Order: sequence, then structure tokens, then C-alpha cells
Amino acid sequence: MTPLTPLAPARIETVLFSAARIRERVDEVAIDIAADFGDDCRIVAILKGSFVFVADLIRQLSGRGLHPVVDFIGISSYGAETVSCGAATLQGQLSLPVQGRRILLIDDILDTGVTLQAATRLLLDNGASEVRTCVLLDKPARRIVPIRADFVGFTIDNVFVVGYGLDYDNRYRHLPYLATLTVPAP
Ligand code: PRP
Repeated sequence: MTPLTPLAPARIETVLFSAARIRERVDEVAIDIAADFGDDCRIVAILKGSFVFVADLIRQLSGRGLHPVVDFIGISSYGAETVSCGAATLQGQLSLPVQGRRILLIDDILDTGVTLQAATRLLLDNGASEVRTCVLLDKPARRIVPIRADFVGFTIDNVFVVGYGLDYDNRYRHLPYLATLTVPAP
């Protein structure tokens, strides 16, 4: 188990999206997903950052008459830093079959694209017939691999964001809103 490391003092700067605005947008995304998937909605979500988004999204999908089935995988590309290291590592395995199925792959943020690309490949390598992608946040300025998400909550500038599942060194995931975080240089 990795202990929480001492942190340089970080500062919440600005609330980018309030809890109410997130709720509204998640419902809009659920409408688009419901129109695309119908009742056969098999979700694979990437831990850990997506867990809050997925928890709200599946309940919105349920409210739209869907019965989503959810699996989780771990693919890690960040450490206790605010920049991506540009490599992705799979942690754990799929626990539900994806063979021959359309999959909705969900992550909290599309940054360099390394994680979403690696997870998409993993699902296709395991026999998924198609992978559609959904992210709460898209940060296109940071992209290093050519990938776009099919469903996007919010497109944001190149700022470091925490809350609603997103962390800085495993902190701030509990915040009900999304906010920018500034970490002073050491
Ligand atoms: C973050 C985030 C995405 C990924 C996006 O995960 O949750 O999965 O980085 O970055 P990329 O587009 O540059 O690959 P992280 O590795 O920080 O793990 P976490 O979700 O457990 O916080």
C-alpha cells in the first residue's frame, strides 16, 4: 500500500463547474448515450478518477430507462505530479466479458490520450466489437496521441482540475464540484 506523501501546499483557485452544473451536464450526456446505446449498455470505467462520474451517470441512464452493466479497470499514467508521464500501465483484469459487444469506455479526463487509447486497445484486443468513449472532461491542448471521445461532458483549457473524482495525489476526489488547483513550485 502506498502511503499518502507529504504535499507541497496546494490551493483551490476557482470553481470551474458547480455541483448543479455537473448534474445538469451529466444528464445531457446520459440522454446522448441512451440514444446511441439503447438498453444494451455495457460500461467499462477506468479507475480511480471516473468513479464519481460513473456513479452519477449510471443513475441518470437508469432514469432514462437503461439497465447499464458496469465493469472497472485500472490504468495508471500519473503519480503524485500534475503532469502525465506519457506511459500507461494496466492494473488488474476485466471481470466481465466484452467479446462481440459494443462497449462504452468511461474516464474522468482525456488529457494526453495515452490512457484512453491504451484502454480502447485492450477492449478491442479482448474482442469488443466496438468501443465508444465517454469522458467528463476533455483537455485537447494536452493531447499527444490522436484520439477523440465520442461523448464529452466539458472541454477545458490546460489547467489542473480536482474534485468530483479527480485528485491531486489522491486528495480532493470528494469535492462535489470541479475546481482548478495550483501547486506552488518547490
Ligand atoms: C488520470 C485520469 C485519466 C488519465 C488521463 O488517471 O483519471 O485516467 O489520467 O490522462 P492521459 O490522457 O494523459 O492518459 P491517473 O493515472 O491520475 O489515475 P487516477 O484516475 O487513479 O487518479
